[in-house]
This record gives sequence, structure tokens and C-alpha cells, in this order.
Amino acid sequence: MKNITRIKLLFIFLVVVLTFSIPGCISKYNNTDISGQSTEKKQDNSITVDKKTIIYSYGGNDHGGSMKRNIELFQKANPDIQVKLQQLPDSTDYQFNAYQVALSAGDSSFDVFNADIIWIAGLASANWILPLDRFFDEAKQQEFFANAIEACTYNGRIYAVPSRTDAPFLYYRSDIISQPPKTYEELMALVRKNKNFPGIKYGYIFQGVSYEGLVCNVLEFIWNNGGEVFENGKVVINTPESIEGLQLFIDIINSDVSSHDVLGFQEEDARIAFQDGTAIFMRNWPYAYKRLNGEDSKVKGKVGVAPLPVGPKGKMSRGTLGGWNYTINRHSKNPELVWKFIEWMSSYDAQVLDNTVGGYVPARKAVYHNEQVKKANPWVTDFTGIFESAKPRPVSPYYASISESMQVNFTNAILGKISARTAIENIEKDLKEILLRNSN
Ligand code: GLC
Repeated sequence: MKNITRIKLLFIFLVVVLTFSIPGCISKYNNTDISGQSTEKKQDNSITVDKKTIIYSYGGNDHGGSMKRNIELFQKANPDIQVKLQQLPDSTDYQFNAYQVALSAGDSSFDVFNADIIWIAGLASANWILPLDRFFDEAKQQEFFANAIEACTYNGRIYAVPSRTDAPFLYYRSDIISQPPKTYEELMALVRKNKNFPGIKYGYIFQGVSYEGLVCNVLEFIWNNGGEVFENGKVVINTPESIEGLQLFIDIINSDVSSHDVLGFQEEDARIAFQDGTAIFMRNWPYAYKRLNGEDSKVKGKVGVAPLPVGPKGKMSRGTLGGWNYTINRHSKNPELVWKFIEWMSSYDAQVLDNTVGGYVPARKAVYHNEQVKKANPWVTDFTGIFESAKPRPVSPYYASISESMQVNFTNAILGKISARTAIENIEKDLKEILLRNSN
């Protein structure tokens, strides 16, 4: 734990130095309007219109441009409001650290931001985001998946509105594989049988960088082999099932079924490799489906999706519950105005657009019955259950520390510095300490 704390302090120190080295904290990310022009520059040569401004901060890509299209529509319907954008990098860990630094310093340079589902408890317990009960009542909450709402709730109060939900698929090349595997054993046999197929470099690819994506991937191996992390508030990770699940993950990386290249893969790296026609199987979130079937894709029309396989002791396939949520900076000067924006961006129509244009997974139940959505992403019909039953990562205000322990120990085990058993024992010890800290 001491090592982890030292690494964590060093990381926070670096983020603070980097963030504050440019004045304005998170606002070092130049504000742009939705056309991508710097609003700073634009103000010089445009006629001044007295508009109310909302600054929206988000990370990663706007696949298909659906976010910008939704904002355009919002601005058209509300000509007196201008939305400025602050874009952060893709990695959820990076974004969280940047927001943590900004919010703890009382930064009000952004009003609303898109928060990963795993951050909500921490942000709420630190009192950095506004409770939304007065805007987002129970009847409105029921229009969304229950697991997404649960993750946006802390101590009985609602703090965020789901912009999209997430749960992974096993993507496979439907021109190579006729029946997707149900177990990892079957997957390995299928890779070995088909790896000479033209253009194929990888059997199975996924996300192996030491970051949050790795935690999602390994937890799925643990859960899908019958292991658990917490049960009734107790740490129960140290079981033969968890150790075997982690070992299987490591063995796959070290075998001809996968490749050490995955240790450098986040979501987009895996998506691009699959899209280039180099992999038979891939674990990724559903956003990839639309990109894989785009005009520029070498695998257009050759992409199948299925639930993740299970390990030798697993009975049921469960994917990690992911998702992104609109939440209001406690220091925003105009929460009412911001709520108007959130309401628009999380509406039925906005989520239809986010799905048909962006490929994102709707968090609103009714969107699954929309005909355009079913046509653009046929998986919504077959796999609604995957999203409803996706398994949350531990919900805790200390999730960042929990994840850190898993990232460090999983990575050390993958690199062969410690055994899978020691990794699980270390995590058990760290999590018990974190729980104890939580109860004091
Ligand atoms: C996706 C998920 C998010 C998760 C992240 C990990 O963006 O929606 O919940 O933490 O991937 O990389």
C-alpha cells in the first residue's frame, strides 16, 4: 500500500504541476465553440451578442459528431445560450485526475462535465458536484436503466444523468467464425484453427495498458470464472476462482492466442487493429460497432458481436457496467441554465442521435424500441439484456484507490513480477484497508 500511495502522490503531483503550469487550471483546455474554433479568437472579430454561456467539458472523441450535432440543435432551440467546449484526452484516469485537481481548487471555468460512472460516488462525497433531486425526480429517473441510475446515486441523492451506458461485446469476424465461442477454451481453439486466415496478425485483442480499461478487462475474467470482489460489504476477492481468472488472462496474453502488443492497447488501439482486419476476436465497448462498419473499415459487414466468454469455473457471462453521465460543477454560476442543457442532451431524441450517428449505447429504455436505432445498430434488439445486467465495479467514494491497487497488482502479475495469487492477496489486503478507512 505504501508503494501505491507514493506512486499516487507522485502522479497527483505531476498532474498538479502540469495543470497549474498553465493559468486557469482545467481551462488550459482552450474553449471552443461547436465548430471547433477557439472562442477566445472569435470574440475579436465578431459582433458582440449578449449570450448566456455554458461551458461543457468532456473527454475523448465525439464519434460520428453526434455530440456536436446535439449541441447545435440545442443552440438553435435556445438562441440566447452559447455552449463552449473543453475537450480532455481519452483516458478516464487522466480525466479524473484533471477534474479532481480542478474541483478541489474550486475551479469554475466549466459548468457541466461528462463523468465516468465510477467517479460519481467520489465526486459526490467530496461535495464537488451538485445533487440534482430538484431537477431529476424519480419519475424521470425511471426512464433510464436502473443500474445506471443506481451508479449516479450517492447516499440516497441523485447526482448525475446518464448520457450513455456501456457494457462490452466480444467482437468477432463473421466471415471467419460462424458460431461465436461461449468459453475461453473454445475461443482459444477457434483462434488456433483460424490464425492463418489472410491478414490476421492477432487472435484475441483487448485492453492491457495499466489503466482503468485493464481493471474492466480483468474483472470480467474474474467474474466470468465465478469470482467476486465484494459481497455484502466484505472483500471476497481471494478465492481460487479469482486467481484462476487472472491467471487465464495472463496465460492468454503470453500465448499465441493474443500478443504482448495488447499491453499497449486502450480501446481505440484495439478498435483500429480490428478495423484494419488484423484480429479475429476483440473485447471492446459497443461504440466500436459503428466505426467497424464504416466506409473506411476493412471489416465492414464482417463484424459479429456476442457476450464475453466464460472461464472454466464460470456459469454466466457478465460484462463490466460502464457509462458516462452529465453532472454539474458545484461552482457553476448558473445551475438552472445548465440543467436545461443536460435535459436536452440526455433527452430521447438526443440519445437516438447519439446512437444512430455516434454508435453509443442508449441509457434510456425507450430508445431501444426506436426503429432507426434498431436499423443502425441491430445489437440493441439482441443485447438489451447485456446492458441491463452489466456488473458494476465496486461503488465507493474510494474507487480511485481500489482501482489503483488493481491496476498495479494486475500489471505486476502480467509482467511476471509477482504471481497471480500474490496479486490477488495484495488487492485483498489493500481493499480491506480502504474499507476500514471508509468506515472511520
Ligand atoms: C468506457 C466505460 C467507462 C470505463 C472506461 C475504461 O469508457 O464507459 O465506464 O471506465 O471505458 O477505459
